[in-house]
Amino acid sequence: MKKWKVGVIGATGMVGQRFVTLLDGHPWFEPVCLLASARSAGKKYPEAVGEKWAMSSPIPEYAKDIVVLDAEADAERLVGKVDFVFCAVNMKKDETKALEEKYAKLEIPVVSNNSAHRATKDVPMIIPEINADHLSVIAAQRKRLGTKRGFIAVKSNCSLQSYVPLLHPLLSFGVKSAAVCTYQAISGAGKTFETMPEIVDNVIPYIGGEEEKSEVEPLKIWGKAEGDGIMNATAPVITAQCLRVPVSDGHTAAVFVSFEKKPTKEEILSAWANYAGEPQKLGLPSAPKQFIHYFEEDNRPQPKLDRMTERGMAVCAGRLREDTLFDYKFIGFSHNTLRGAAGGAVLLAELLAAKGYFD
Ligand SMILES: NC(=O)c1ccc[n+]([C@@H]2O[C@H](COP(=O)([O-])OP(=O)(O)OC[C@H]3O[C@@H](n4cnc5c(N)ncnc54)[C@H](OP(=O)(O)O)[C@@H]3O)[C@@H](O)[C@H]2O)c1
Repeated sequence: MKKWKVGVIGATGMVGQRFVTLLDGHPWFEPVCLLASARSAGKKYPEAVGEKWAMSSPIPEYAKDIVVLDAEADAERLVGKVDFVFCAVNMKKDETKALEEKYAKLEIPVVSNNSAHRATKDVPMIIPEINADHLSVIAAQRKRLGTKRGFIAVKSNCSLQSYVPLLHPLLSFGVKSAAVCTYQAISGAGKTFETMPEIVDNVIPYIGGEEEKSEVEPLKIWGKAEGDGIMNATAPVITAQCLRVPVSDGHTAAVFVSFEKKPTKEEILSAWANYAGEPQKLGLPSAPKQFIHYFEEDNRPQPKLDRMTERGMAVCAGRLREDTLFDYKFIGFSHNTLRGAAGGAVLLAELLAAKGYFD
């Protein structure tokens, strides 16, 4: 089978390292270029990433001899060498937007983890199990950019992946409103316990910009693809509080939800158990077999025990019960750098490849 050649922009970062690891031996994708800032350019990957390597497995063999390129200055060198790029960079919003558009206009599709283009109307923001149909707006984006194959597709913020996939199968009961409190891991800030010692024995009740993203982004995910872009949904109303907690990987969400037509507990459990999206139907290589895993035990899901459920790509739930203010409450959980970042982006790229967007 043909393999698509891939570049990773931001390869030395926390999410970039996940890409480098996940792409090792990937059945469809062959990583051939690694890119970062001018600080890393010209160095072999192990030297460029240095002490920042935070994965539990060593740097893959294929990456050891790759010389890191400058994502801004060397963009043209990728033309003809790669079929698409992943992008996860720590740059200002306008710089990130410009960088991603530069690659798209070079006819190199961009699968992005960055937030810069999430609100752009004709850029699809995809959770592959939920809104694969939004890929249709790529045609309008290509028209705007004046490209034949170049485009940008993004994934949503990592916090959402712990509750939106659990609310989605319940939309048929008329989800009216949801209150969410997230307990987010430090890898979500690109940190480890060594680089974020202030989090040990502590909780930090503020993550810049996160609550707004957690409330607004679901409405684009649940929006409608029409004409020149996505028309955002206007309901359900979501209110969120986001806290940073001393956990290495895995975001937990405490969720409260009210419905137009209150379902029984059994109906909710059945909706979760039976939910499957395009990745499951297409049998994409990174897709979890079972998207939602419900734990009956009162003390699950836990980051330490459950973050690697289905290679970190499943969404976990537990403690579903009736509430005094809302109809129900439950706990959601997902791995923030796998399902919530690099793994979700690899799954999105597999969906794009399967649907012919890289041809
Ligand atoms: N961590 C998560 O769980 C998570 C989840 C979802 C989304 N995201 C998003 O993913 C992106 C990356 O996050 P991260 O946690 O991986 O950040 P990070 O660990 O700080 O890594 C940032 C990367 O960006 C590169 N970079 C910085 N300035 C650059 C420039 N001018 N040109 C090219 N590359 C540049 C860095 O290269 P150097 O090493 O050369 O400086 C590094 O590779 C962010 O937009 C973040 O919001 C992160």
